[in-house]
Amino acid sequence: MAILGCVLGIESSCDETAAAVLAPDGRILAERVLTQLADHAAFGGVVPEIAARAHLAALGPLVQDALREAGLGFADLAAIAATAGPGLIGGLLVGTGYAKGAALASGVKYLAVNHLEAHALTARLPGLAAAQPSFPYLLLLVSGGHCQCVAVEGVGKYRRLGTTLDDAVGEAFDKTAKLLGLPYPGGPALEAIARDGVARFELPRPMRGREGCDFSFSGLKTAVAQLVAGYGEGALPRQDAADIAASFQNAVADIMADRLGHALAMLPGATAVVIAGGVASNQAIRVRLADVAGAAGKILVAPPLRLCTDNAVMVAWAGIERLQAGHESLLSAPCRPRWPLEEI
Ligand code: KG4
Ligand code: ZN
Repeated sequence: MAILGCVLGIESSCDETAAAVLAPDGRILAERVLTQLADHAAFGGVVPEIAARAHLAALGPLVQDALREAGLGFADLAAIAATAGPGLIGGLLVGTGYAKGAALASGVKYLAVNHLEAHALTARLPGLAAAQPSFPYLLLLVSGGHCQCVAVEGVGKYRRLGTTLDDAVGEAFDKTAKLLGLPYPGGPALEAIARDGVARFELPRPMRGREGCDFSFSGLKTAVAQLVAGYGEGALPRQDAADIAASFQNAVADIMADRLGHALAMLPGATAVVIAGGVASNQAIRVRLADVAGAAGKILVAPPLRLCTDNAVMVAWAGIERLQAGHESLLSAPCRPRWPLEEI
């Protein structure tokens, strides 16, 4: 179905307030992301109440700014798409409330977008890959809250092949980084010090070789905790912290490479392997996954870093894909703090 008009995307499910305007063909006309990292850093994690208030303060001006750059007003849009879940309820209410109000006032369509679906479809944004991946493809969704292998069989058609039995991989990065005394968010900080380290510590690779493509990271995290405890009360020497970080990252890359191999065997018809979510920005992991995909004769599509972490371009693009498939949401559509991909 041809879409007449641009789509505004809004993301506010966690600690990024983001807005983006996309042309009907997927060209990015404006994109804005405001991170709340500084607001939460002192607490070592995202504080939901602080997040919701920060979204409330930031969203209006951010949307106006994006629309100004795109040279559009609300009434020029085909639709407004907002993340309606999964995520923190306060932020979801701010984003969807704003989107619904603007859609109602200007007579444009409203789309309640699933955040995971938005990550899943990002790889189809025109111009990202040499060729737009067609369905079905294998998605590895690796973020702070999610760690799943998903068969993406069409817009709204997702089949989970495997998931984590305990922590999400980003969570494992964040917790391990904390053990090493690194600032929040841990993933990027851990990757940075791992560059100066040697992977000389032996750490477990939970689930490696097991049937299926489920993940587990708690044993790995515990092993790092025991290693760090061995240093006693004093500060961990910097080089040792770097070596532990490199060993941890290596173990995670090994686990993910093994799980991807199993997932590919479960979806032999996959046209491509797509990675999405914050952890997909980790270079060491990207390289390992590209090797596994290549060995199976598949291309690895890894969006640029800014589109791997939370953003609104992916929300607007998911909105365009939904409109093209003939979908639209009611203004009464609820926010869903828990909203598994299979329930879309
Ligand atoms: O997708 P995302 O921005 O937010 C959601 O969780 O939905 O992912 C954030 C997660 C955090 O756990 C962060 O530590 C991790 O992704 N992360 C990384 C890297 N960059 C972000 N983990 C490992 N290496 C990185 N370079
Ligand atoms: Zn995300």
